[in-house]
Amino acid sequence: MQVIQHVAEMQAVAELLRARGKRIGVVPTMGYLHEGHLSLVRLARSHCDTVIATLFVNPTQFGPTEDFERYPRDLDRDLKLAAEAGADTLFCPDTKEMYPDGSATFVDVEGVSAVLEGKFRPTHFRGVTTVVAKILNTTKPHLAVFGQKDAQQAFLVTKMARELNFDVQILVGPTVREQDGLALSSRNVYLSADERLRATALFRALKHAEMLIARGERSAAHIRSQMLALLADAAPAKIDYVAFVRPASFQETELLEPPSVLIALAVWFGSTRLIDNMTIPIS
Ligand code: PAF
Repeated sequence: MQVIQHVAEMQAVAELLRARGKRIGVVPTMGYLHEGHLSLVRLARSHCDTVIATLFVNPTQFGPTEDFERYPRDLDRDLKLAAEAGADTLFCPDTKEMYPDGSATFVDVEGVSAVLEGKFRPTHFRGVTTVVAKILNTTKPHLAVFGQKDAQQAFLVTKMARELNFDVQILVGPTVREQDGLALSSRNVYLSADERLRATALFRALKHAEMLIARGERSAAHIRSQMLALLADAAPAKIDYVAFVRPASFQETELLEPPSVLIALAVWFGSTRLIDNMTIPIS
């Protein structure tokens, strides 16, 4: 696997690949790869001739009190895993390369970036859409793959790419879960053994909502109150939100209507904030 650290070199390699008629897939990550990321690399591989995985812990998407410094990092392990999953190139720039001194240009998708996650992490999505725009302009992909686990991010990146005329297809890969339902996340390593057990409440709450909806329940308030009770049993430190969203617009809704609803939640166990979501069909 080819490892590239500089923007200009990455652009030159991408240009060469394009000139040779190769279809390029990119999988942006912040590293500390797990099976969720690797499934996205495999998905990109199945649609493209060549896959670039990017690894950059992006400072602009972390708030001042968030975990940028302690975010887990293990480049050697990531190199091995990315290569095994089928990445041909790993683009891993440093901060100065992505944000040269004096950088003052940001990409902000107004509206949806301020709700749900955006309410609790006000500068987060501006950082995400900015770095994703830089990654797209650097790796020049035909296809970029993101995970459904970060549903709002996937929605915003898709909206940004469409509205800024990025010549790229955005594909969203399914959430990968542990056997007990916990969604894979690099941040799961922060959980103590006891918190890790209790954290399965996120998935159980989502499955409970799915069951209520299958039985005909259509009131978000009613479903939310049962989900909150189930989550409270797991003694979380805090529940930021349990939200019901129309997948097409990412607008919150209290009345569940066809064709589907996305239920998203953010819950703290100890000092670790976990998010999860599920899209549930409504008939
Ligand atoms: O999902 C992530 O890991 C990050 O938000 C992304 C898309 C790589 C941008 O830094």
